[in-house]
Amino acid sequence: MNALGRPRLHFRCTDSTNARAYELAVRGAPHGTMVTAAEQTAGRGRQGRVWVAPPGRSLLCSVVVRNPGPLLSLTTGVAVADLVEASTIGRRVEIKWPNDVLIDGGKVAGILVEGRPQERWAILGIGINVALDLDELPEQLRGDAATLGLAATASETVLDGLLTHLARRLSEPSDAILREVRQRDALRGNDVRWSGGIGIGDGIDAEGRLLVAASDGRHALDAGEIHLIRARTD
Ligand code: BTN
Repeated sequence: MNALGRPRLHFRCTDSTNARAYELAVRGAPHGTMVTAAEQTAGRGRQGRVWVAPPGRSLLCSVVVRNPGPLLSLTTGVAVADLVEASTIGRRVEIKWPNDVLIDGGKVAGILVEGRPQERWAILGIGINVALDLDELPEQLRGDAATLGLAATASETVLDGLLTHLARRLSEPSDAILREVRQRDALRGNDVRWSGGIGIGDGIDAEGRLLVAASDGRHALDAGEIHLIRARTD
């Protein structure tokens, strides 16, 4: 099997690295093929949102994965959290289910997994705020964002680290991934709101679903949008 990150296609500017990688995968690109860019004009986020990243200050990459195992989205979150932890000292690194990576409560990385499960391939699209100055973001995004606070020149080193963590985590069994996600679960014990109601984050089940304790019982959520309402202080 190919090493992750090879072959690599780098763009100074493209619409979306996920869109480029998707095209390559449809045409048969091998496992590990990676697309990176310094700038995206139409970066894609989850739930149909856009991903905003000022040029040259983020890691923007998409990796083709063939024959993915279960829990791919959570696995990618764990690998990114590993990388973030290794790049920051003394900061609290958490995963907000399913795979937002937070530093001290602010989102430092986003992950968008797309693909064709019936053809057994997926694209792991990862955006990490490496050198972002939060003031560069539109005002409405600033409050929820975080940055690694590194120099822009660190992006290639960050990418190398990411690929190492990703290769390792992709080879691990589900129970190891679940253990890591549970240890870094930003929603556990916190008030959450989802499309069906409000409750308190109550862990992650064996299928990788978010458990929420609500007044009408315990819910296992596998899709939809989760909002952290506020951190509990009691
Ligand atoms: C999210 O949190 O909403 C997911 C954001 C994913 C953004 C990355 S940036 C690189 C790759 N290309 C895209 O168009 N999106 C992903």
